[in-house]
Amino acid sequence: MLPQTIQTSRLKLRKPTLPDAKVLFDAYGQDPDVSKYMVWRPLAEQSEAEGFIQQAVEDWDSQLRFAYVLEAGQVPLIGMLDARIEGHLLDVGYVLAQKYWGQGLMPEALSALTAIALQQEQCFRVQATCDVDNHPSMRTLEKCGFTNEGRLERYTMHPNISDTPRPCFMFARCK
Ligand SMILES: CC(C)(COP(=O)(O)OP(=O)(O)OC[C@H]1O[C@@H](n2cnc3c(N)ncnc32)[C@H](O)[C@@H]1OP(=O)(O)O)[C@@H](O)C(=O)NCCC(=O)NCCS
Repeated sequence: MLPQTIQTSRLKLRKPTLPDAKVLFDAYGQDPDVSKYMVWRPLAEQSEAEGFIQQAVEDWDSQLRFAYVLEAGQVPLIGMLDARIEGHLLDVGYVLAQKYWGQGLMPEALSALTAIALQQEQCFRVQATCDVDNHPSMRTLEKCGFTNEGRLERYTMHPNISDTPRPCFMFARCK
């Protein structure tokens, strides 16, 4: 179980609400640079963001997936940090609007979430995969103390760069 909010020095991580969909759509949903290594294509319609947020809220209520919105000061949504519980491990994914890149914000969010997750009695491992060419994501994981456990061939579809499955690195932090 993860908390509904997590406060860091510059960010508040919180459960999504339906009005977040429009902010997400405007902030990064349509940006091809942001979605380049993601499993989704740039959004064409705001309704796609609404469907995503609706699902995230329902998944929170099932207590199996915790997709946090990242709020920065007065800005209600600058990105998201998605955490999915799979038994004793937590699988995470993350995204930030381009204008906020390079300030160490995602390492701040991910470090806080990872510390809280590994304090839970039943959580032994936090893991993330990223495309072998996604260097900013690798750096984020390294800054959070994750270990690169190796390369997984043909592991994930990243439709913005290839129409066949891409190799990924598996990173993890364990207790
Ligand atoms: C991956 C991501 C969340 C990193 O977040 P962040 O808060 O910018 O992370 P950092 O500030 O620590 O920067 C990490 C690395 O990004 C790179 N970077 C920094 N500023 C950048 C910029 N303006 N443009 C591109 N890359 C940049 C640098 O390599 C940096 O490493 P360094 O600090 O050792 O120089 C962000 O780049 C992002 O949202 N990318 C698109 C979505 C994505 O790929 N998600 C991960 C899928 S596995």
